[in-house]
Amino acid sequence: MKIAKNILKISFEKRVDYSLIFCEDVFDETKNILNFDMGSKRFIIVDSFIADKYHDKIHKYLAKFTSNYKIIPVEAGELNKNIDTFLYIARELAEFDVDRRNEPIIVIGGGVLMDVGNFVASCYRRGVPHISIPTTLMGYVDASVGIKTGINLDRHKNRLGTFDSPQFVYLDRSFLKTLPKRHIINGTGEIVKIALIKNAKLFEYLESFGKNAIDSNFQNEESSYILNQSIIDIVEELEPNLFEDNLERCVDFGHTFSLPFEMIKESPLLHGEAVAVDIAYSACLALVRNHISENQLQRIFNLMQCLGLPCFHPNITSEILWESVQERINHRSGFQRIPLPQGLGKCIFANDVTKKEIDSSLNLLRNVMYH
Ligand SMILES: NC(=O)c1ccc[n+]([C@@H]2O[C@H](COP(=O)([O-])OP(=O)(O)OC[C@H]3O[C@@H](n4cnc5c(N)ncnc54)[C@H](O)[C@@H]3O)[C@@H](O)[C@H]2O)c1
Repeated sequence: MKIAKNILKISFEKRVDYSLIFCEDVFDETKNILNFDMGSKRFIIVDSFIADKYHDKIHKYLAKFTSNYKIIPVEAGELNKNIDTFLYIARELAEFDVDRRNEPIIVIGGGVLMDVGNFVASCYRRGVPHISIPTTLMGYVDASVGIKTGINLDRHKNRLGTFDSPQFVYLDRSFLKTLPKRHIINGTGEIVKIALIKNAKLFEYLESFGKNAIDSNFQNEESSYILNQSIIDIVEELEPNLFEDNLERCVDFGHTFSLPFEMIKESPLLHGEAVAVDIAYSACLALVRNHISENQLQRIFNLMQCLGLPCFHPNITSEILWESVQERINHRSGFQRIPLPQGLGKCIFANDVTKKEIDSSLNLLRNVMYH
């Protein structure tokens, strides 16, 4: 504390420490991978699909280490990432209760469960420890990696949320075996994002092996490199800027124009699909601004189409795109800060994109798609 005239100045720095642990068969009861202390209570928030599919396995595992646990199955999907789900989980938690320091909440599921479950944990008694076990590709390569939690507020995506790190994230890719193809491709959108703005080698690797990785639900050998490298690349970007003090974030690539496509009422796109449409459009904008060549643009579209990612949405208009720019200016504290690819594997930020460039890029996207 510093005292100066009529001011008491208080400063405190809090360390953030957490680990991403690559593992196999996380619920193998012979291994105690989750590091249970015998007898302590556990509150477990589980995606309802996983709760059914792994019912016996999860109960057997938990029963081995504690008799005092409660499993709350929760329906995932973007529409459930809301205050009702938050309150439902919070009330169940209040009834069961956990020790504020020693009984971490366990969240098992996709990005929606990560976001809402960790948000509850970060608010309950002003924050209790929590552990994440992602079960979708989106959860595995992105939602569980950083420290953002949140829910949607009406049509405003992620409008309520916190920064709060998990204690541990257990990355067990065997969960992906049962994930429907649409959700596998959805998660691949975030992998393409990071490759395109950060890692040319990963981009090339995806050109050669991405399709096979998808066909194998990310279980084949090549998938290991793709999964591990994209997580390492994301962590490299997040770690020095965990609380987003710097709003110029290359991991925001694909997240400037995507929001309206995820939040439209009629047949909304999944998060990674909306990111993919944004990537395709942003790549056109990058060409219009001379940051990439025609050949590189073609390679981006070839890769995305080969992976089954959408590059276009019928609702896309110049007005919607321009509104997104204005909305992002609000979100990014007064500047556009639009991440764009610079060649393949590098990122550049734009702050002076004009409406004319928005229109030309949309025309270019239409040309690429229809010719
Ligand atoms: N916090 C972050 O940093 C961050 C980063 C990226 C995305 N997100 C958020 O993640 C959310 C999207 O996540 P998502 O795509 O995982 O959606 P999701 O959590 O809704 O899961 C998608 C579907 O997969 C099912 N499912 C889960 N695991 C399964 C499995 N192993 N096998 C079969 N089905 C399974 C679920 O029941 C659900 O129907 C978005 O809301 C997005 O904003 C957050």
